[in-house]
Amino acid sequence: MASIKATEISSLIKQQIDQFEATVDVQDVGTIIRVGDGIAFAHGLENVMAGELLEFSTGVMGMAQNLEEDSIGIIILGPYTGIREGDEVKRTGRIMEVPVGEELLGRVVNPLGAPIDGLGPANTTKTRPIEGEAPGVMARKSVHEPLQTGIKSIDSMIPIGRGQRELIIGDRQTGKTSVAIDTILNQKDQDMICVYVAIGQKESTVSGVVETLRQRGALDYTIVVSAGASDPAPMLYLAPYAGVSMAEEFMYDGKHVLVVYDDLTKQAAAYREMSLLLRRPPGREAFPGDVFYLHSRLLERAAKLSDELGAGSITALPFIETQAGDVSAYIPTNVISITDGQVFLQSDLFHSGVRPAVNPGISVSRVGGSAQIKAMKKVAGTLRLDLAAYRELEAFSQFGSDLDAATQARLARGVRTVELLKQDLNQPLPVEKQVAIIFALTKGYVDDVPVEDCLRFEAELFTHLEANNKDLLEHIRTTGNLPEEQDFKQAIEDFKKGFVASNE
Ligand SMILES: Nc1ncnc2c1ncn2[C@@H]1O[C@H](COP(=O)(O)OP(=O)(O)OP(=O)(O)O)[C@@H](O)[C@H]1O
Ligand SMILES: [Mg+2]
Repeated sequence: MASIKATEISSLIKQQIDQFEATVDVQDVGTIIRVGDGIAFAHGLENVMAGELLEFSTGVMGMAQNLEEDSIGIIILGPYTGIREGDEVKRTGRIMEVPVGEELLGRVVNPLGAPIDGLGPANTTKTRPIEGEAPGVMARKSVHEPLQTGIKSIDSMIPIGRGQRELIIGDRQTGKTSVAIDTILNQKDQDMICVYVAIGQKESTVSGVVETLRQRGALDYTIVVSAGASDPAPMLYLAPYAGVSMAEEFMYDGKHVLVVYDDLTKQAAAYREMSLLLRRPPGREAFPGDVFYLHSRLLERAAKLSDELGAGSITALPFIETQAGDVSAYIPTNVISITDGQVFLQSDLFHSGVRPAVNPGISVSRVGGSAQIKAMKKVAGTLRLDLAAYRELEAFSQFGSDLDAATQARLARGVRTVELLKQDLNQPLPVEKQVAIIFALTKGYVDDVPVEDCLRFEAELFTHLEANNKDLLEHIRTTGNLPEEQDFKQAIEDFKKGFVASNE
């Protein structure tokens, strides 16, 4: 056994003491006292800020949440298996932020802004905090420019303006995501940037969406932010804030941005999970008390900026999934109350073949009307009410057999209206064509066309107008006004002469 000299030991100790430097400030480093399920609690870190980014010894980042007297709660933004009780956790002095800028266009990123599309780094140069302040009253201007979704039933009856927040709500599998995709596709050449935030969706669904956007050339002006179904809850919670921060960068640069949150129901569920693990008191439906604030502070960041601030805009389309059409559940009512209207997609309409399954009876847009182009406003002014009246009449007429001629005429118009508002997937329609078909409908040119021929009538009308009356379409597109009514009618009458119905 080797003997150790006492002098050797004391010299070693002395050497250690000499070399000892207090490099760590106890206020900037904490110790983990409990960890699990994507959440850690730490001791120390007295000066930490709410929402501050923290670094674990494994290199994984965290975000400070509950700041209590003797401990803080941290959400772990990444794999947490390597993190143990007793490990150190360091302050970074930075509030949670994400990379922003044009470099992200065409990319698929996670809520921390890291590319997940396998196309290498995004080379961004700027960042923005993910919790930004919403523009105040004076920084805003009323919504006055249309955001064309390209979907007939929405643009005609529930118009959306740039800077508006319009909720899209419906049960599962009612075509919600399809509305988002079509709207993004329709922004081509409309001077718009789109941010699609996918929350808690299957990887395969997201890759399908990305593929559709890519094929149609819409990915060039779109950023996809995705927190998948298998990501930890904190990622799902952060995704919408990351998306809107990326959008703000463009808005404050005077550009127009459309942000889609698909969907906030899953974000609220992730927030509930996170909050329960952080031991926050559960309230109604086990959601924490501030679940309203979760969505209000997000949606308030959508705005139409004043001219002094460059007149940019963020239009928000939050999505909510309902259970059996119940719009009066906790989360749906919250979000309905903080948006400027809602598009309600109804399951039974969807299954009866009315697609998109918009129920105009309970869908509204509180500000979009002032942003509709004049021509559309003129032709579609009463469409929503007419359709609602038709639905009522339809239910009533099932009982009676003898209907007077006027009622029969209204029913005939109603069926054709429903038929003509149907639209195939990924076929957004430019506004001038929407105006043309609704003009033909409301002026009675479709009343004698068999219902099953209506959509063919529409397609052939468009072909005819493009070949023979390009000037009329051009007029609507450039001026936003209806052309001379006589010319418009003449064009449709000319077309009808050549149209062959299936029963002829
Ligand atoms: N206008 C349409 N015409 C024909 N098919 C449609 C239309 N809209 C949606 N679909 C089809 O309906 C299915 C469901 O659509 P989608 O995924 O958009 O619904 P969702 O409400 O987002 O569903 P989930 O609840 O799963 O998110 C898809 O297969 C889609 O192709
Ligand atoms: Mg969906």
